[in-house]
Amino acid sequence: MNSTFLPAWLYTEPAIAQRERQRYDPRLWHPLTATTALVDGQAQAFELLGAPLVLTRFQGTLRCFLNRCPHRGVVLQPPSAQATTCRRLVCPYHGWTYDLQGQLLAAARESDFVEPFQRSDWPLIALPCRELGGLIWVAIGPDPLPLEQQLDLVLQEANALFNRPRDLLLRQGHTLNCNWKIAHDNTLDDYHVAIAHPTTLHREQGPVRLYRHALSDHGSLLATPYGEAGEFLTFGLAPWTHLLLWPDGRLALIQFPPLDLDHCRMEVWLLGDSALQPAAQAWMDEIQTFLAEDRRLVEAAQVGYASALVPGPPHRLEQRILQQQTFYAQLMDLEAMPEG
Ligand code: FES
Ligand SMILES: [Fe+2]
Repeated sequence: MNSTFLPAWLYTEPAIAQRERQRYDPRLWHPLTATTALVDGQAQAFELLGAPLVLTRFQGTLRCFLNRCPHRGVVLQPPSAQATTCRRLVCPYHGWTYDLQGQLLAAARESDFVEPFQRSDWPLIALPCRELGGLIWVAIGPDPLPLEQQLDLVLQEANALFNRPRDLLLRQGHTLNCNWKIAHDNTLDDYHVAIAHPTTLHREQGPVRLYRHALSDHGSLLATPYGEAGEFLTFGLAPWTHLLLWPDGRLALIQFPPLDLDHCRMEVWLLGDSALQPAAQAWMDEIQTFLAEDRRLVEAAQVGYASALVPGPPHRLEQRILQQQTFYAQLMDLEAMPEG
């Protein structure tokens, strides 16, 4: 594992952001929604890192396709907050019509194409897609790491608690004025909690001396005592994901997908039993309160990183940052790069 923080130029160089889009994002799985959000015979469109996607479920099988008509590239369905029941995906441009398995069923005026036309030559492009831990995961590259590897620590530490169906109760997003790695580092940082969140997150996590840490090649865990015998689990995972798991099965997902070099989204999803729906807004408000404290800090750190900072020494409570940075450096193959 690295013993120093990544150098600041990795946060400020356009070439690095480009390399991340080529080497980092495509090797990892990205959660799209809850498994319960899509029942048989439904479709739902999403945008993931600028790529238009559509999920379908047909006769029990979940599929993910590029939401892009093979004829002239038009999006088949606009992204929506809810799945809709439909038998076909119909392109609004020239009417090419697909079934939920991605096969072309019909094209308008089929006998008049310039070359002989075979419907079977024009299926939708499918992407790797999995269901695990009550979430639907998608990979945007052809060769992702095994999902069980990406989630290894979650499966080792909390398999039964994690692996259950949950409803997506609420989601909220904001734009942050910082490189995604600053926001990700900050959420992996157990050194700042007592200082920066004294009346919010620090109360939830309790005394620092009771922190329990676990690390794997792919992720890290901070476990803190919760209630009588339980633990509140905070997993830090690639690519920019934090999975907060309460002993009662509630799950919050905090993610920082990049927008560009200097901006990312801060996405918060709350998942749990549908009976928790009435309490979801209050739960979200609690999380947003400490995230607003973080927002000021990460945007201030961005200013420092952009002024050619040489980062200081890591503290033992910052080991989860070093773990993620080590994994990032491996996927990015940074050793093969000249210094910036
Ligand atoms: S672009 Fe979809 S049918 Fe032409
Ligand atoms: Fe924080």
